[in-house]
Amino acid sequence: MKISIPKENREGETRVAASPEVVKKFIAMGFDVTIQSGAGLNSGFTDEIFKGAGAKIAADTKSTLENADIIFKIQRLMTSNDGINEISMCKKDAIVIAHMSALSTKKDSEEYAKASLTTFAMDLMPRISRAQSMDVLSSQSNLSGYQAVIKGASNYNSAFPMMMTAAGTVAPAKVFIMGVGVAGLQAIATAKRMGAIVTAYDVRAATKEQVESLGGKFLIVDEEAMKEAETSGGYAKEMTEEYKKKEQEVIKNHIKDQDIVITTALIPGRPAPKLVTAEMVKLMRTGSVVVDLAAEMGGNCELTKRNEVVNANGVKIVGFDNLPGELPKDASTLFAKNLLNFLSPHVNSETKSLELDWEDETVKNTLVTKGGSIVSEIVKGVS
Ligand code: NAI
Repeated sequence: MKISIPKENREGETRVAASPEVVKKFIAMGFDVTIQSGAGLNSGFTDEIFKGAGAKIAADTKSTLENADIIFKIQRLMTSNDGINEISMCKKDAIVIAHMSALSTKKDSEEYAKASLTTFAMDLMPRISRAQSMDVLSSQSNLSGYQAVIKGASNYNSAFPMMMTAAGTVAPAKVFIMGVGVAGLQAIATAKRMGAIVTAYDVRAATKEQVESLGGKFLIVDEEAMKEAETSGGYAKEMTEEYKKKEQEVIKNHIKDQDIVITTALIPGRPAPKLVTAEMVKLMRTGSVVVDLAAEMGGNCELTKRNEVVNANGVKIVGFDNLPGELPKDASTLFAKNLLNFLSPHVNSETKSLELDWEDETVKNTLVTKGGSIVSEIVKGVS
């Protein structure tokens, strides 16, 4: 069977859905692997390195995709609306595995179904222990959390750690993390390592202990309401209007003393909750920074502009989409490993081919299109 990995054609995408280590493993399992020339350059994986791992190199996107049985992508395939019609280059019934943003791109899934592609959205991976090693949301969010702190620090006009020098004392930066999922936890750990005073907030009760175990202080809004804030899948629920009002008051009080605010709050399939209002930004000190990791889902801050740094009376609001893409080597390596961990349990070592167990939870939950239709109930349910 032939696995192909094209160069990502979407603007600003630096990552590649393969690493030399993962290529070697698939070849050892009996697959043929083809990589588009230059696909790994930003990650430091040259054509020579991929060739050394056993891959064949194809000249362009079309020759990479056209005979592939399985296609690995970072982002979903491009459609005729995106300039380059990658779908038209794939053969019927090819398997495509990517971060599809499936809950917000149903129209694209309809196109994949029309082209009779079998598509898997890694972003729909169930949050179960067995699937942790396949979870692209986790592997990439962890890097986002780290990079958000780096971005915050580089836009801030002062240092993070306290410094006592002969010329005077530099006060430690106060960093406030909103949303303590995978990205938020890494942001807390990174900011602590850099010497900041860290506080954090989330709606889910389980996060209080996690924040404290990393040396942060938890900001409490309403302990009773927090007990009901988590779905059985581990995600946050949308909170009541009454809670949101209380939340705004508590945050407003806290935020005015913070130097760096990092927001990571998301609710699957819904616009990001607005946690930082324009009024709150007005209360912040000149020179402070908001890094909004939810920019792609509308932003947690009312003033965020996607992929821009907004200056609001001296407060910088940084809202870039693809922070893992700023660390392409690590991001690609971990993403590729997630794909390997997803597929390898389904490889028959005797026939050396992929035999998917369609009843396996990781397969069933991530399958979006097959045999000409959208088969994912959750994607079908998106309006
Ligand atoms: P996410 O990216 O969906 O959301 C980020 C954070 O924002 C979450 O912690 C959420 O509670 C918080 N949030 C939502 N609305 C908020 C609001 N109004 N105010 C403050 N915070 C708000 O979450 P992520 O990082 O994907 O993690 C979700 C859960 O899944 C966590 O419990 C995590 O530990 C768990 N998880 C489990 C895995 C597994 O078992 N395979 C793998 C990865 C995560």
